[in-house]
Amino acid sequence: MGLPDVRGRDLTDHGPLLDGSPKMRAILTIIENIADTDATVLIRGESGVGKDLVARAIHTQSARRHGPFVKVNCAAIPSELLESELFGHEKGAFTGAHRRKPGQFEYAKGGTIYLDEIAELPPALQAKLLHVLQDFRFTRLGGQGEIAVEARVIAATNRDLEYALTRGEFRQDLYYRLDVVELRIPPLRERREEIPKLVAWFLARFNAQYGRQKQLAPETLSRLSEYPWLGNVRELENIVRRMVVLADGEQAFEALVTRGQIGHAAAPRPTPMVTESLREIARRGARAAERRALAEVLDRVRWNRAAASRILKVSYKTLLHKIAECELTSPTRRVV
Ligand SMILES: Nc1ncnc2c1ncn2[C@@H]1O[C@H](COP(=O)(O)OP(=O)(O)OP(=O)(O)O)[C@@H](O)[C@H]1O
Ligand SMILES: [Mg+2]
Repeated sequence: MGLPDVRGRDLTDHGPLLDGSPKMRAILTIIENIADTDATVLIRGESGVGKDLVARAIHTQSARRHGPFVKVNCAAIPSELLESELFGHEKGAFTGAHRRKPGQFEYAKGGTIYLDEIAELPPALQAKLLHVLQDFRFTRLGGQGEIAVEARVIAATNRDLEYALTRGEFRQDLYYRLDVVELRIPPLRERREEIPKLVAWFLARFNAQYGRQKQLAPETLSRLSEYPWLGNVRELENIVRRMVVLADGEQAFEALVTRGQIGHAAAPRPTPMVTESLREIARRGARAAERRALAEVLDRVRWNRAAASRILKVSYKTLLHKIAECELTSPTRRVV
């Protein structure tokens, strides 16, 4: 298998958004159609599928392209600071508010505000955002005067929103407000035909960046195309970077595969003859389910172990023990 030409559409100033599959081309067509409307967009998809890149593409394709693109990660800012971060505050609005500070909605004037990890918005702020999106006006904390929203709103989440809705963790009315246009970006394993093009682009980029001339063996390429890439394009990007940087990068990749630290071989494994007791089989099944759940939650909270222990309702210590037991490693420790 050879590497194709890289002819992505440079819709963002953050490198091309490659469109190597019919699914991705369909998304790009929607982006082109809706960019110039001011419609609110909700981008959904697993971690690492390209939601940020798509948000930027909508911005750079729109008439707002010369205005600011302001990203707010709702999960990264402590909830007590988030309201002021989004909407700003007046001097004296709360202890420590020594001077007036505009919020990100104001900074995004004439451009786009991208609310990432929207499902992590605390309930009180969900209510406030709903009102803001209804009236397109807001007030700074401690302020009187209303300020008009003059930004296009794009939100994104990797959470199962339907599940959050049924559990009452996310407001249905806010969901409908945000979901004017919904873009669902499929996981990379559902659009594998993109892998060669993505690999070619990452190879070219990292070779230029690190002054290398690394090429990949055809077997490595087909191996790369076979894996489910649970960390999606970001994981693929990191692995290619590692292969460019490390002299023995390809062996390192093989070692990771063998140790089961990335993906799982796509080929079905031969079914072993049943030689163990039902109890052992049940225990093994439970352990595998536990490992999957653990990996999924850790991935979702970007390896914030404290957050993961809260979600899984185990102590921090137990969580660390389980991580070690399941031999899970943080992606950041895997990346060069
Ligand atoms: N179609 C694509 N073409 C080129 N690069 C891509 C594409 N999709 C994703 N990438 C790259 O993969 C990496 C992850 O993408 P991005 O940050 O947009 O994902 P995300 O969905 O926002 O992830 P998270 O949910 O973790 O925030 C980025 O470096 C991005 O540039
Ligand atoms: Mg993102």
